[in-house]
Amino acid sequence: MPEFSPPEVKPLISAERIAARVDELAAEISRDYAGRSLVLLSVLKGSFVFAADLARAIDLPVRLEFLGVRSYGDDTKSSGVVQITQDLTRPVTGDDLVIVEDIIDTGLTISYLREQLKGRNPASVKVASLLHKPARIQRAVEIDYLGFTIDDVFVVGYGLDYAERYRNLRYLGVLDPSRTAGK
Ligand code: IMP
Ligand code: MG
Repeated sequence: MPEFSPPEVKPLISAERIAARVDELAAEISRDYAGRSLVLLSVLKGSFVFAADLARAIDLPVRLEFLGVRSYGDDTKSSGVVQITQDLTRPVTGDDLVIVEDIIDTGLTISYLREQLKGRNPASVKVASLLHKPARIQRAVEIDYLGFTIDDVFVVGYGLDYAERYRNLRYLGVLDPSRTAGK
């Protein structure tokens, strides 16, 4: 199959490894919530690919909700003040929520979201994140379902972007900024 594979992105985690890990996480979630249903809350835009794959691998009834967020601050630094740009379509009162994130970097975004969502009175809130960069953590976060721990590198693909590009790569790769100059 032809694959979009730009030269400035160095492959880090292959599509096959991602798929295998997503299946494992989905199996764990299916066991933990056996006999119940859950709401997967995909944090846009970065988690849309992970959420789509995770949802299809979970062996339980799921509802999907999407939350659009924007972090105040510049491109590289998260300020922890999160603006909700697109809200849920339905209340989540009494629901078992799993927040689906692409990556937990400083931890500021997820800490803010967890607090915000508690105010909407769900029965429970857990966090699933595809990636975690522990080197940059500023706020202790509990990640209930974690795909991969990575070094302090900037990754793109499988939903994650740099300036809105690369979200459609099937794999995760490290972006070499020196090779994107002038594009
Ligand atoms: P934080 O945990 O509040 O620092 O914010 C995490 C958010 O920053 C993620 O949801 C991504 O949108 C973005 N982000 C952090 N690291 C990366 C990366 O390596 N590649 C792409 N986006 C990233
Ligand atoms: Mg994000």
